[in-house]
Amino acid sequence: MSMKKIIIANWKMNPQTAEEALRLVKGILAQRLSKNIELIIAPPFVYLDLVRKNCGREIKLAAQNISWAERGAYTGEISSLMIRNLGCDYVIIGHSERRHKMGETDEMINLKLKAAFKVGLVPVLAVGEKESNDDIIKVLTRQVKSALEGIGVSEIGRLIIAYEPVWAISTSGTGMIDTPDHALSAVLLIKKIMSNLYGSEWAADLPVLYGGSVTSENAYDFITQSGISGALVGDASLKLQDFIKIIKEAEINE
Ligand code: 13P
Repeated sequence: MSMKKIIIANWKMNPQTAEEALRLVKGILAQRLSKNIELIIAPPFVYLDLVRKNCGREIKLAAQNISWAERGAYTGEISSLMIRNLGCDYVIIGHSERRHKMGETDEMINLKLKAAFKVGLVPVLAVGEKESNDDIIKVLTRQVKSALEGIGVSEIGRLIIAYEPVWAISTSGTGMIDTPDHALSAVLLIKKIMSNLYGSEWAADLPVLYGGSVTSENAYDFITQSGISGALVGDASLKLQDFIKIIKEAEINE
C-alpha cells in the first residue's frame, strides 16, 4: 500500500471565475510540494482543462461527478471517457450533495463506479450518514455494499473511499464537527465492511479518507490517525492559505 497521504480539494460549485480558479492552482503550485503526498484538485467541469494545463505534474485532477451512461442522448451529462480523455485520474462518486440534493440513488452510484473503472479512472466513493444519530453501521453497510454490487476484486485495488458524515460538512448548517476518534472508528468500520466483502488483505490496503469541516486547525488531528489515509476538503480548499497549511500538516506526517 502506498503510505502517501491523499489530500483532495473538492471545490464543489466554486469559484465563480476562471481567474480565481487559476489563482488557487498557481498559489498551491508556488509551494514546494512533497512527493509523499498525493494532491488532487476536483474543480467544476468547466475549469478541468484550465487546471490541468496549469497544475504541473505534482497535482492530479479529479472530476466531481460523471454520468453513469457511456454516450448519447443525455443532455447536460459528461461521460467517464470524456473525463479520462481530458487527463483526469480520479472522480468523486456518490458525494452526499449529489445523493441528497440531486437525488442520486445507490443504483446510479453503482453504475457510475462501473463507468469509472471501465475507463481507468480511480473512483473516490463518498459515503456517510446524514444525521449524527443515524445508525452508522446500517447506513455505511448499505452504501458500500450497494455501490460495489457486481464489482470484482480485480477493481478494488483501484478504489478510494471517503467517509463524509453529512452532519459534519461545513455547509450542513448543524455547526457540528466530527472528532478524529469518531472519524477513525467509522473508517475502521468501512474497512471491516470491505473485509467482509472482499477479504481482509484488500481492506487493509484500501485508502479511506475523512471529509467534513477539515480546516487548517484540525487537519493534523484527522490526517495523522494511522488508519485515515487523508482528507477530502471542501470549504477550506478555496482559501489558499488555509489549504496550503492543510497540505503542510499532511507533509509533517511523512
Ligand atoms: P467541507 O470541508 O466544506 O465541510 O466539505 C466537505 C466535503 O463535502 C468535501 O467533499
